[in-house]
Amino acid sequence: VTDSFRVSGSSPGRTLRVAILGFGTVGSAVARRLSHPDRAPGIALTHVFDRRAAQKRRSLPTAAPVLWTSDVDEVLHGDADVVVEALGGLEPAAGWVRGALLAGKSVVTANKQIVARHGQALWTLAARQGRQLRFEAAVGGAMPIVRALGEGLAGDRLTRVVAILNGTTNAVLSRMDAARCTLVQALAEARACGYAEADPSADIDGTDAAAKLSILCALAFGLRVDPREIARRSGEWIEPDDFDRARRRGGTIRQLACAAFDARRRALTAWVAPVVVPRESLFGRTTGAQNAALVTGERSGEIGMFGAGAGGDATAVAVVSDLVAIARDPAAIVPPPGLTTSFTVDPAEFAFVPSDAAVAEAV
Ligand code: HSE
Repeated sequence: VTDSFRVSGSSPGRTLRVAILGFGTVGSAVARRLSHPDRAPGIALTHVFDRRAAQKRRSLPTAAPVLWTSDVDEVLHGDADVVVEALGGLEPAAGWVRGALLAGKSVVTANKQIVARHGQALWTLAARQGRQLRFEAAVGGAMPIVRALGEGLAGDRLTRVVAILNGTTNAVLSRMDAARCTLVQALAEARACGYAEADPSADIDGTDAAAKLSILCALAFGLRVDPREIARRSGEWIEPDDFDRARRRGGTIRQLACAAFDARRRALTAWVAPVVVPRESLFGRTTGAQNAALVTGERSGEIGMFGAGAGGDATAVAVVSDLVAIARDPAAIVPPPGLTTSFTVDPAEFAFVPSDAAVAEAV
């Protein structure tokens, strides 16, 4: 273990002590990564909270001492420097993130719902506390789109983001296309891989992608967008026949999330829906639980990325990357994005097919 960083307010070279809330798909993958011999140097797993801590602790063989608890106060009032929130859902996760920040800890969260709904208040609290709230894992899995929009492209004025943001739905749609199976069959496979939300209707109906798109609107355009106001069309009615029709037009079906902001008119268009995309496009070639994004900037033109968008190990990469960022500079001041609500929402511009199939034309 190298001592290449120091934790604010502590002795030089101290190891960053990490607590994980929730030992589900993401939390257990982060714990495994932090317990592996080639783990990031200077970062140690010290606490795991889970409601079923007594049973789950057996699944993490580790030489280092880790406090397992089903009492969250042992974490919130313990001596960890950073809390990783991997619980999902709005409450109690949001309250516990608030509690961790108030207790002087930095927080890394994979929770798109709390960032989308409470991000502004939590960023402000983190800044007031002199601590960090990082959330790379909330959008795009291992694909580093949060940093790309928030930092890498901060020098441009961004105008549009089109993306596949839900790995489960992408796995389902690409499986239906390849195997001509039903949505129910494909969804069962995706659930078995651990991609789906606790309630997978949030994946298929666009709720999950809308929360992620709202976060991207904050980062790309500086807008505070309530995810419930993003237009959505569910993919639950898609049938194998819809793929046959798309195929005859050289296309396939993908759930896209799209946001475009006209800064001159201060008008936003934002939607999530299954649409027909060209088979040979970036989106058509994005299969399984991958995500993809095309970002347009006034000066940079079009920037694209794609990669593993869901699953424990992929999402753990984003969480651990945030931990590495905190370990490198624990005293970093991360200013909250200055978000505005001063914009209008234009009607969604994509062509819904007026049937339950809800398959729209290519974007
Ligand atoms: N259920 C989500 C997805 C998990 O499939 O994309 C990652 O956010």
